[in-house]
Amino acid sequence: MQKLIIDTDPGQDDAVAILLALASPEFDLLGITTVAGNVPLDLTTINARKICDLAGRPDCLVFAGQDRPLVRPLVTAEHVHGRTGLDGTDMPPPQTPVQDMPAVDFLISSIREHPAGAVTIATLGPLTNLGLALQQAPDIASRIGQVVMMGGGFFEGGNITVAAEFNIYVDPEAADIIFRSEIPIVMMPLDVTHKVLTHQKRIDRFAGLGNETGRQVAKMLSFSERFDEKKYGTDGGPLHDPCTIAWLLAPKLFSGRHCNVVIETRSELTLGMTVIDWWRVSDRAPNAHVIRDIDDDGFFDLLARRLVGLP
Ligand code: BDR
Ligand code: CA
Repeated sequence: MQKLIIDTDPGQDDAVAILLALASPEFDLLGITTVAGNVPLDLTTINARKICDLAGRPDCLVFAGQDRPLVRPLVTAEHVHGRTGLDGTDMPPPQTPVQDMPAVDFLISSIREHPAGAVTIATLGPLTNLGLALQQAPDIASRIGQVVMMGGGFFEGGNITVAAEFNIYVDPEAADIIFRSEIPIVMMPLDVTHKVLTHQKRIDRFAGLGNETGRQVAKMLSFSERFDEKKYGTDGGPLHDPCTIAWLLAPKLFSGRHCNVVIETRSELTLGMTVIDWWRVSDRAPNAHVIRDIDDDGFFDLLARRLVGLP
């Protein structure tokens, strides 16, 4: 079983990613760490707990993380996810408890206590928790098996500014620490996630799974696609974060290449841009596996076949 930590700011698409992980016996989910991002930390933590309840997994360990980026004021995305971050759903207040330990302490201790290379971290939000963990405990860098990250964009440009994707833009200094860390990184930028669209037929399939999880997922996706359809003029909105978990389960659905990625941390105009050397025009060494293509039908099929196994 793959030892996994999910670092997240739920968010409807984060919620689907967590559900996919909880529906998949391939994972030993060590913990879920929350961070401020789509909505403030108190709400992302409540939302993570609600998702554990929905999956029938109140035993999941949820750790609350950083309530603001390393050096900048927090930017949130209620315009996409609604005031609660999980608008569209109707789930009861959560039963899954929050652990006493802060998320950064949990990250450091669990990476140290497992064999080097054993733990994978899926990051679905701003990278503040992991960035701070690496600042406080640089020794963990060589012990992390890999980081599978939703973040960045290059050919598609940005979604929060012209140049930057939300997760990187919110905490570019934290992202910069991770891209310089020499941890193996798999990156799911907008270039691939914009190909994963929640067409109505796909939402209907979730609604028809016959379980509460499917019903709530259909509601989440119906809510979050409204904004995205208007913005992008597409049939359905992009389902970003579950790409990370799907890649761990079925990497053959994806294709990409090893590239150098540098985070812009200084420019006002392009702050948080992921400068991806796709064409290898620089002599900078590759530091990430950057995904650009996906078998989207295969992805939705995997998701539906897994989610049907939840309550
Ligand atoms: C990312 O930002 C958030 O709004 C989503 O949850 C996703 O992680 C997409 O840019
Ligand atoms: Ca997210």
